[in-house]
Amino acid sequence: MIKFLSNDKYENLIKLAHLVRKKAYAPYSKFYVGTAILAENGKIFLGCNVENAAYGETICAERVAVTKAISEGVKNFLAIAVATNTTKDGWPCGSCRQVLFEFSPNIIVLASGVNGKMQIKNLKELFPFSFGTINLGSVK
Ligand code: THU
Repeated sequence: MIKFLSNDKYENLIKLAHLVRKKAYAPYSKFYVGTAILAENGKIFLGCNVENAAYGETICAERVAVTKAISEGVKNFLAIAVATNTTKDGWPCGSCRQVLFEFSPNIIVLASGVNGKMQIKNLKELFPFSFGTINLGSVK
């Protein structure tokens, strides 16, 4: 079930995501992404994108935040804010949607660029007809 949160909580996540995006290592794309993911237990994990000269080794900000949480034993999330240094909303890429879906199919996703606006969706809207653990359950 999607759990909507207070505006204060959303704004705090956006603020943290914009702070951590300044730590992004993105010398190739210059596209700086920061994320703040709120777990059900109230903990918040931050992430930024980490690029590499071998471009394919780049890690997105969302997956950095999720893997940090998993490594701390936290797997259930309520909301994630994604902040970028552009004027467009930065929604999670397809790979990040898949990874978020693995742990929290009902997560709320907030997107914010540098224009101060915040967009809100839930992962179900961003990632319909998804593939998940339930699909593996029908293997014969
Ligand atoms: N990026 C993210 O961090 N998250 C996304 O969901 C989309 C893309 C990063 C990867 C790369 O460092 C840069 O943005 C340009 O693709």
